[in-house]
Amino acid sequence: MTETDRKPAVLIARRLLPAGADRLAARCELRQGGLNVTADELLALAPGVDAIVADPTVPVTEELLDAAGEGLDVVANYAVGYDNIDLDACRSRGVAVTNTPGVLTNATAELALALTLAAARLTNSAEAELRRGRWRGWDPGDMLGLELSGATFGVVGLGRIGSRYAELVSGFGGRTLYVAPAPKAEAEKALGASRVSLEELLAESDVVSLHAPATAETEHMISTAELDAMKTHAVLVNTSRGSLVDSEALAKALADSVIGAAGLDVYEHEPGVPQHLLDAPRCVLLPHVGSATTKARDAMAALVADNVLAVLDGAEPPNRVV
Ligand code: GLV
Repeated sequence: MTETDRKPAVLIARRLLPAGADRLAARCELRQGGLNVTADELLALAPGVDAIVADPTVPVTEELLDAAGEGLDVVANYAVGYDNIDLDACRSRGVAVTNTPGVLTNATAELALALTLAAARLTNSAEAELRRGRWRGWDPGDMLGLELSGATFGVVGLGRIGSRYAELVSGFGGRTLYVAPAPKAEAEKALGASRVSLEELLAESDVVSLHAPATAETEHMISTAELDAMKTHAVLVNTSRGSLVDSEALAKALADSVIGAAGLDVYEHEPGVPQHLLDAPRCVLLPHVGSATTKARDAMAALVADNVLAVLDGAEPPNRVV
């Protein structure tokens, strides 16, 4: 086989659903790490690959890029967020980086809504009590939650997912406040949303839902002072990235009834979930399943393949980040 006949090599760091993997397999040699791959195993699989398919659990470091070598053209993330990738290192090596925006917007906003409802109405603790055999019949004063109709929703980050969440909760007929680096005129018009400071949003909202990316600026943007500024019945929802919330401060705020409840899908050191969150009252915890619908995960896999194949064909990938 000559160099020109060589099939491009793609390292799927962990797992890519067939909607993307089958299309890559038709044209490329696939190397697959599997769900439990270690950093050392990835380094061993990387030499000579043209593309790496990563996901939020796979740190794409200088070491991994160097192990892949000079033939590496693209790192395609199987996610919309890309804080797991060293973007500067990719930029300086001329490696393209892509993500999968848009196709997971509905799924993730719907999960934020599910967490909002579950946390506001304490559904998980109520079910746990029932399953433990502790239900003694209808009790007018037990498991009292927050009614969402007419509530004020504070949306932190009004990008695709934040906007869709705002649209979904507009059905409750309350107010929508948002925080964003720049005004979003269309959303203001369509949703009647008002742009405010984070301080005002925290003070006014019954529900605060986080939809901002993980960056140095957003790290622990919700910590003790911010939780203290929230209403005592307020619900905090996080479906973006764990680093936005200081989880120790949140666990304390829940234990001290500084806020009403929380619903989390993401954690700082996944798949680790800190004991203080596991022990916190009125806290719904999900295992990073925001985009976990068949429709979204298949569409994300297909976009990964589109991005990899475009770069390998020398074309502009549809979802370039770098
Ligand atoms: C998942 O967390 C994503 O960023 O798509």
